[in-house]
Amino acid sequence: MPFTITIDGPAAAGKGTVSKAVAAHFGFAHLDTGLLYRAVGAKVLTGAEPIAAAQTLQPTDLENPDLRTQTVAQEASKVAVIAEVRSALTDFQRNFAAQGPGSVLDGRDIGTVICPNADVKLFVTASAETRADRRYKELKERGADVTSEGVLEDVIARDTRDRERATAPLIAAEDAVTIDTSGMTIEEAVAAAIAAINAKRG
Ligand code: DC
Repeated sequence: MPFTITIDGPAAAGKGTVSKAVAAHFGFAHLDTGLLYRAVGAKVLTGAEPIAAAQTLQPTDLENPDLRTQTVAQEASKVAVIAEVRSALTDFQRNFAAQGPGSVLDGRDIGTVICPNADVKLFVTASAETRADRRYKELKERGADVTSEGVLEDVIARDTRDRERATAPLIAAEDAVTIDTSGMTIEEAVAAAIAAINAKRG
């Protein structure tokens, strides 16, 4: 049986970094499911209809270099509210999780909706200020024209929309282990995740 690890949490909590490191540690495949919603959002920004964009999404759409911008992130959060967009992306994520020897999927609804029977579920979070500060530094390093206040507003707006939507809202699964990375370095967050997984693996 393939081993599945789900890592959910709000924007910029460190899910991506932790997921990549965990996948490398265990020799598992990694899927950043936010990229799927970002790719749909990017298509909508160029005039596509959201449901059709999700239904016709191609692997090459995930290679668009603009997917990491704030504009695309906001649009991703908006298209993610649409139930038909979410259902169009479900099979791809479940098929990814079915591969051996194991996989790590990060997102918002992986432990609750996509892989409710996952072997280990983590909920990685941090205060809004910590997350905005990290995202601000990351965007600045990439040369983006952003302010720290703007990034904080953006993160809060996205979290609120992701948490309050009717379909598959952002919420920790009942059986998830929560890791608050607010006061942690990347190394500490990765170590905490690996320890939580090893504890569950037995
Ligand atoms: O993880 P991210 O910041 O790249 O995600 C971008 C947006 O996509 C996020 O604000 C909400 C949506 N999303 C989702 O609804 N469900 C997921 N599993 C992953 C992302």
